Amino acid sequence: MSERVRVAVLGHGVVGRGVAELLTRPQNGVAAAKFGREPELGAVLDIRDFPDAPYSRLFARSFDDILADESIAVFAETIGGVRAAYDYTKRALAAGRHVVTSNKELVSTHGASLLRLARERNVNYMFEASVGGGIPVIRPLARSFAADRITAVSGILNGTTNFVLTKMAEDGRSMLAALDEARERGYAEADPSDDMEGKDTCRKIAILASLAFGRHIYPKYIPTFGISYITAAHIAQAAALGCAIKLLGRAGLREDGLTDIITAPFLVPFSHPFCAVRDVYNAVFITADRAGDVMLYGRGAGREPTASAVLADIYDCVRHIAQSVSVLWEDTKADITAAGAPDGARYAEFPDGSKMRYLPT
Ligand code: HSE
Repeated sequence: MSERVRVAVLGHGVVGRGVAELLTRPQNGVAAAKFGREPELGAVLDIRDFPDAPYSRLFARSFDDILADESIAVFAETIGGVRAAYDYTKRALAAGRHVVTSNKELVSTHGASLLRLARERNVNYMFEASVGGGIPVIRPLARSFAADRITAVSGILNGTTNFVLTKMAEDGRSMLAALDEARERGYAEADPSDDMEGKDTCRKIAILASLAFGRHIYPKYIPTFGISYITAAHIAQAAALGCAIKLLGRAGLREDGLTDIITAPFLVPFSHPFCAVRDVYNAVFITADRAGDVMLYGRGAGREPTASAVLADIYDCVRHIAQSVSVLWEDTKADITAAGAPDGARYAEFPDGSKMRYLPT
């Protein structure tokens, strides 16, 4: 008989519901066979009622009540934002519980201190679901390049805007209609302007750069431009230049120790692999001194892919129940970024006077 590890899901939105559903499906014994332990859903925190959920008896309205239940060993935080989520995460870690999260705003803003707290309490703070939805990217970046120096990381990091740009370019859809569909599919943030204005991509490139370069890079220092001004005319002119428009986060390590980092729409030549990344798909490009260029690709948003990444972290906590194995990065609390795009920038000018960077190739 395998040991049961009880998990509380905080927030029953798109991702939280996906995690709760996966946890209540027959587990097929994968974790039990590998680690002798199996996660099980122990509580769900939400202020709303979900009487039709098969696990409706597990709902609670008070975080304090869940925290007081010492049988809960792992918290899956899917609330988002930095208010309640930050408070609950700090208190759970301080109480010696593991926390896994899909919350990119929290990780990009307070990651360094939360990771430090987890290490002090000998527990884990894991955030595979915070970047790239279902793509395993945090773990590879943290572990698989152990023998390399990572010099650059970039990517299509937002499923909503990639979906919108693809639908505009390929189906002639309006930006609004495409965004509505992205919202219906559960891709967009609670406030979709976070997607459209580039804030979500900014948070994700901040996390990737912090991991890649080992020092916390704060979103507030990253020049950030979104796609909401882009029209069919921009897309047509980009095509005439042999390019698609893609919203990218890009970060490069400079010789002087600063980081060049930016979030912006780029002109990407049709021959570049980023152009094959369509719809809700994301891709992350990593340049390392020995491994060279590596690209990771997969579904960047949506309930199941994101929930699967949260579950992967839950399994990792179940496996390392008495051990702190989550990453650490240094907290400089300073601006270690330099304005502008890595590798310099070449621009195209549009008839409306706007300019857009070419992706250096
Ligand atoms: N709104 C985000 C996106 C969700 O569209 O990529 C996944 O982080």
